[in-house]
Formats: sequence, structure tokens, C-alpha cells
Amino acid sequence: LSSIRVDVSGVTEGTQLTVLFQGKPVFIRYRTPDEIEAAQSVDVSSLSDPLAENANLEGEAPATDANRSMPPFGGEAEGETSPWLVMSGVCTHLGCVPLGESGNFGGWFCPCHGSHYDTAGRIRQGPAPRNLPIPVASWVDETTIQLG
Ligand code: FES
Repeated sequence: LSSIRVDVSGVTEGTQLTVLFQGKPVFIRYRTPDEIEAAQSVDVSSLSDPLAENANLEGEAPATDANRSMPPFGGEAEGETSPWLVMSGVCTHLGCVPLGESGNFGGWFCPCHGSHYDTAGRIRQGPAPRNLPIPVASWVDETTIQLG
């Protein structure tokens, strides 16, 4: 199967789900207002990977929070941010699975060699070269996300 559907009805504010897609973990998180605010306050030009790494966007979009988060069901004006973050759960260094709600930036921490990702999944510290990539994702209905 090249796509899967995920029931996210149980993903409430401040929680996340990890699903396997094409044999690899994908994190689906509903972020808190504090997490969103932290992600929005970052100067994108200061990032070691300034690109959104988002398969849903054309070209080399910058790694703003709006370009990293998934629009809520029903969509929203372009450029707005969203609580939903759907991204690969594979560290871009050597492929370990980062831990959630961890690390120096309140996002994810990869214990293998110490990579810290922020609340938008962007690499902020450590050896990982890229932000956690965002797979093709879309809403099927209010509580279902399709990956791929
Ligand atoms: Fe994550 Fe090396 S695999 S830091």
C-alpha cells in the first residue's frame, strides 16, 4: 500500500501518536499553544536547515512554523500556523527514533548521538543535518489523516 489512513480522534492537545508508514515511524502531534509559540518565535535564517522539508509544498519553502505544520481539517488561510504537526520519526543523522517532549528545545531528542529538534521538528543542536521531513499528508475527514 502506498498510503494509509490514520484515526487521529484520540490525539488531543499536547499528545501525539506514532504510526508506521512504509515501515518507518511517523509522528502525529497536536501541539499546545506554548509549543506553537516557541516554534513561531524562531528566526528561520538562524536554522542550520532553513528549509521546510515538506513534501506538501512546492520548491524550497522556508522552515517557518506555518510551512512545517499541517493545516487543520477544512483548511485555513495560507501562511497561518496550525497545532498539527505530521512528520517523519526518523532522525536525519543515522536513523534512530527521537523521543518526544524531550531535548533542549521542548520538541524531540535523539538519544543516539544527541540531536535536539524543536517543537516544529527542526534540527537545532547536534549532528543531524536536516529537519525531520514532512510526508505527503491530507485530511480524509475531521478525524482521519491520510499519509501518502
Ligand atoms: Fe539521531 Fe545520530 S541517529 S543523533
